[in-house]
Amino acid sequence: MSRQITIALSKGRILKDTLPLLKAAGIELVEDPAKSRKLIIPTSHPDVNLLIVRASDVPTYVEYGAADVGVAGKDVLLEHGSTELYEPLDLNIACCKLMTACRTGYEVPEQGRLKVATKFVNVAKRYYASIGRQADVIKLYGSMELAPLVGLADIIVDVVDTGNTLRANGLEPRDMIAEVSSRLIVNKASMKVKFEAINQLLDQLGTAVNAGSASEE
Ligand code: ATP
Ligand code: PRP
Repeated sequence: MSRQITIALSKGRILKDTLPLLKAAGIELVEDPAKSRKLIIPTSHPDVNLLIVRASDVPTYVEYGAADVGVAGKDVLLEHGSTELYEPLDLNIACCKLMTACRTGYEVPEQGRLKVATKFVNVAKRYYASIGRQADVIKLYGSMELAPLVGLADIIVDVVDTGNTLRANGLEPRDMIAEVSSRLIVNKASMKVKFEAINQLLDQLGTAVNAGSASEE
């Protein structure tokens, strides 16, 4: 049975918050991805490599088996919408909320079509369908907060943590769509073919997550 495991991760907060968990599982990076332009990073563990990919691409790499395992935000997973992935572990990192937001004090019209700007197009469409509102959803790739300020949209759907970004732009959060944290995701075929190695990783990461949350209490 193969023991080689490839893990897909994004740079930034997910990498930063996942490194201590991997370390607890005996996996340390031999190079700092923040300083390197390499996209395949070996680790101290002879059977484990990391792939550095865009946050929103992690589910794609894992779904197609280019990576066995990945770490992705629940926001990204909801948007990706695949049933072809296992999601066995909540890593309890990069926690935030997917919310709607609009200009502070803005009265959302009770009827008619809403203009919604977001990079979470599928999430937004599903959300407005679920509450029975018609919505024209406009795809953006970033700086969503700008859209209501310049009349591109009435509402945005984005992740909110402290709310500072919204406040700094004269916006306020409104409806909660989902609680978000990063999840370990696993390719379905890898789970069968590399069961032992992946199960061991899951156990070790699970223990590290629980130890982290226990030390926070
Ligand atoms: P991409 O590069 O694909 O556009 P991104 O820029 O959103 O992705 P990051 O900013 O690194 O990538 O965010 C990765 C994940 O961290 C998000 O998918 C989300 O789950 C979570 N996240 C995003 N913003 C925050 C925040 N302000 N506080 C806590 N967690 C966050
Ligand atoms: C994220 C997200 C929001 C902000 C919310 O941006 O796109 O703009 O965090 O966090 P807050 O409620 O604490 O202000 P991030 O800081 O990751 O920058 P980027 O995604 O635009 O790179």
